[in-house]
Amino acid sequence: MGQEQSYITEDTPPLTLSDRSLAAVADLIKTGYARRIVVMTGAGISTAAGIPDFRSPETGLYANLAALNLPEPEAVFDLSFFQQNPKPFYVLARELYPGARYRPTVSHVFLALLARKGLLHMLFTQNIDCLERAAGVPADRIVEAHGSFATQRCIDCKVPFDGEVMRAFVARGEVPRCGQQQGQQQYQYQQPQQQRDDGASSAACGGLVKPDIVFFGEALPRAFFELMDMAKEADLILVMGTSLQVHPFAGLPNMADEQVPRVLFNLEEVGSFGTQADDVLVLGDCDGGVRQLADELGWREELEKTWRELVGDEEVERQMQGAKKRVAALHDEVNKLAVEVEEVLHIADDEDQRGAEHEGIHEENQRPPSPGLGGNAGDEREAPTTTTRPTAESRPEDNTNASGIGQAGNQNPSG
Ligand code: OAD
Repeated sequence: MGQEQSYITEDTPPLTLSDRSLAAVADLIKTGYARRIVVMTGAGISTAAGIPDFRSPETGLYANLAALNLPEPEAVFDLSFFQQNPKPFYVLARELYPGARYRPTVSHVFLALLARKGLLHMLFTQNIDCLERAAGVPADRIVEAHGSFATQRCIDCKVPFDGEVMRAFVARGEVPRCGQQQGQQQYQYQQPQQQRDDGASSAACGGLVKPDIVFFGEALPRAFFELMDMAKEADLILVMGTSLQVHPFAGLPNMADEQVPRVLFNLEEVGSFGTQADDVLVLGDCDGGVRQLADELGWREELEKTWRELVGDEEVERQMQGAKKRVAALHDEVNKLAVEVEEVLHIADDEDQRGAEHEGIHEENQRPPSPGLGGNAGDEREAPTTTTRPTAESRPEDNTNASGIGQAGNQNPSG
């Protein structure tokens, strides 16, 4: 059983901040008290760029994939499901693949400013879109806790796969296999010829190729475990756009001492936020919250200018057009995606039946028609509000799984 934690009330005095406000947080930075800022991010910092998050009730990827009769929506990131049916993942990969399509948000650029000013101790991100890098955060200040699309390998023999060939496969929505080279339409199976030190074969084996993003059931990158203690060294923690539902990442905001101020920029309250005296909850659109902090710091002009120079006027206008249009556009995008997954699953059925003899896999897949999307296009997001939870309540402490990736309350068998 987890230890109970109580929410603080309005009457609880902060330990470090002068008050629980962004102005007080900005003072810590301006006075030089906060020099090692540790940031933890999730999908919510990229939604303004047009990339759906995972768990938002109507626009999130999982809500929409659920209607496709996958065993569960998370199955697209599940290794054993991938081994049987990699197609849904590759349809998603085409949407999420880093490239020219999505541009950084003002929140990403704020992180780059922190780095440029020597204040970013470390950024831990769960995102695989690489927009932090695109915004200019130096690679050595980023821990991609759930991996990235930057590299890929065979899931069987672990031999790396060429990046450019991979990009072409993803663009075509096709599933690459170990040994497939550019121009080859079919992989050619070769018997393993050599054993590597780790026991894996160095020959192309025809196994499925997967980007090095962390699936459920897989361990996080070594860098996460090597660098996670930097969260303990923080003198200020910023958490942005994450539901904090996936462990062990979700345990990071709890690693620093209690007097270290923590700021949450998110649409909703998450994790243990609201249980410590120096928690500042900025509930609303994270770009809006970041702009408020930039105002308090006197960085607003620099922030907007840097962002506009990076992404261009057109993208600035697109991202600024407001929550209403953004949600509507997202619905269209996810709808299109759902139709593609549906189509691909039909193709996969046919291919699986043809390939069953070779691969030893046969899957029956009965699916309902493609889903329509319930609309919340009129759901205007309000300007972020800073809040302290007013009443004392209690909730169980986070249960951190320190080895494999797992969801809260749903420990990963490998962990
Ligand atoms: P989630 O979709 O679980 O959570 C996104 C959070 O961001 C939610 O709390 C939203 O309310 C919030 N949000 C969305 N848009 C926002 C905005 N514009 N401003 C502020 N907040 C916003 O995404 P993650 O927490 O990143 O794992 O999910 C964690 C992991 O679960 C992912 O890395 C992925 C997934 O399974 C893997 O792929 C292995």
